[in-house]
Parts: sequence; structure tokens; C-alpha cells
Amino acid sequence: MNLASSLAETFEIPQIITYFADFFECIMIKVITTVKELKENLKICREAGKSIGLVPTMGALHEGHASLVRRSVAENDITVVSDFVNPTQFNDKNDLNNYPRTMEADCRLLEKVGAQYVFAPSVEEMYPEPDTRTFDFTPLDKVMEGPNRPGHFNGVAQIVSKLFYAVEPDRAYFGEKDFQQLAIIREMVRQLNLKIEIVGCPIVREEDGMALSSRNMLLSKAERKLAANISRTLFESRYYARHHTLASTRKYVIDTINSYQGLEVEYYEIVDGRTLQPVDNWDATDYIVGCVTVHCGKVRLIDNIKYKEECC
Ligand code: PAJ
Repeated sequence: MNLASSLAETFEIPQIITYFADFFECIMIKVITTVKELKENLKICREAGKSIGLVPTMGALHEGHASLVRRSVAENDITVVSDFVNPTQFNDKNDLNNYPRTMEADCRLLEKVGAQYVFAPSVEEMYPEPDTRTFDFTPLDKVMEGPNRPGHFNGVAQIVSKLFYAVEPDRAYFGEKDFQQLAIIREMVRQLNLKIEIVGCPIVREEDGMALSSRNMLLSKAERKLAANISRTLFESRYYARHHTLASTRKYVIDTINSYQGLEVEYYEIVDGRTLQPVDNWDATDYIVGCVTVHCGKVRLIDNIKYKEECC
């Protein structure tokens, strides 16, 4: 229940006023469904000299998304959040069909954090004809999620490039939660020669360390508790790594997570944070990240941990 509805209930205000209050609350944020209308609105903003931040999402928003939106609101005059479950990045039909959709709650959250526009197009609006573009992000897309989710990053690049052309933002915000995606978006911007600053934002976690994800709401209570062992193992591995080789640390993470019945590691790679290529010793580079994908029941969860922070 929103603030207006609960006030109306508390003070026994007639239902019609509640509807009005609901309407009034929603008026703050503008929901746009077509590229044409989006461009018209943003043209006016741009002509008024306003800077524009874009936060691409697939909806089912949580505090992780909210942290990106807050950052954009702080750094830009106008913030556009796209809320679109992009079919071309799903290589599994079931995954696409089961993806949570919570548009109304999303709008309320976005209103609270101060975004001005929600762009929520239909599939036909974004793909009036099939997108046949193929991207090559070698070597970034040849590891981890690349081979494990064929076509995924091509689909991400298709939709994000379309969003970039539609919004023409000054800055776009992406989470480090999807570490490989962030690196690939940076590379796409470089290849397409776009004048957009890509801002990477830290992972937001639950109190028990679990990385927030829209997919977490697909976990049963028991699975959710079990899944906390993923981030716990990653954090523990940072201590383990102080006195062990990289190969031994990698094995420690895989074996520990797999030792929990109900968790199954798809891959765990310890990579150079810039090239995403596996490294074989702690001195190989100055920026080292461990990236994991784990199956918990039917849900595929990803997370990562920095062993060596990027300096400058
Ligand atoms: P989605 O999974 O909705 O994520 C949208 C953005 O939120 C991504 O940049 C993601 O990294 C970030 N995010 C998700 N969980 C986070 C967390 N716990 N902490 C910080 N940031 C978090 O990623 C996508 O959508 C899509 O692939 C998209 C880029 C929108 C293209 O369709």
C-alpha cells in the first residue's frame, strides 16, 4: 500500500479520493512506452541544457537498482530508467517466461528515489523487425557467461545500443554485480564510438552478504538461506587467498560451494578485471576478480569478489 492509500484508510477518506491520491502520486514520474515520445521529451530537456542519466534495467527493481538510480539522480539533471525484459538476451525460454515482472511497484520505487522518466516499451516497440546485428567483443565475451549463455551478450548489446540511441544519455549506470556485462558495455561504447560515460556501481548486498538480484524472489525460503553460502564462501576465500595459491583458492571456492547440497557451481573463474581472462597467479596483474555462477534449484545466481582492487 502506498502513502496516499494508507493515509486515506487511516483517516477514513472516501475511496474516490484514494484514487485521486494514487493518481496524484503517480504524476511525479512519467511512464513512456514509445521511442518517439521518449525522444520528444528528452529533446526538450536537452535544449534546456539539462544533462541526462540512463539506468537500463529489466524491472523487478530492488535496492541494487535503486543505488544506480540514486547515483544517476545525484549526477544528472534528468534520470531515465528503462524497464524492459529483453527477450534477445535470454537463451532459455523458461527463464524469460519466469522472469519476475512488477511494473507498478517499480514505478513507486523509482518515484521515491527521484527518477523523472520510466521507459517501458513493448517488445514490438524495441524490435519492430528482428535485430540481426552481431557484435564481437573478443576476448571479453569468450569466457564465463559467454560460452555458458550463447547469444546472451549479443542480446544485451542489441538492447543497450538501442537504448543508447533512443536516450542519448550523457552517462549510463551499470552494476558491478554483472561484472562481465559492465566490461562488455564499456567495450561496446568504445567500438561504436559513443560519447557516453559508463559509470560502474558497487554491488549492493543483503545483510547476510547475498547480492541483491531480481532472481532472488524466485528462490524458496530454504533456497534463499542456502544461497547465502555463495557470498559467504567468496568473502572467506579472500582470507584463504592470503596464504594459498590462486589455483588452490579457486578449488577452495568451487569445492566449498558444491559441498552444500542444493548448490552447484557452473563456473568459478579468477580473472584479470580488465581483460576478463583467467590469471594463474596473484602477481599476474594489479586487478583480480573472482566471478561465479551457481545453480540453486532452478535459479541461476551470479556473484563476484575482488581479490585485488583496481587502482586509479
Ligand atoms: P537487470 O538485471 O535488471 O540489472 C540492471 C542493472 O542493475 C545492471 O547494471 C545490474 O548490474 C544492476 N544490478 C543488479 N543487481 C545489483 C546489485 N545487487 N548491486 C548493484 N547493481 C545491481 O542487467 C540487466 O538488467 C540487463 O542485462 C540490461 C543491462 C538492462 C539489458 O537488458
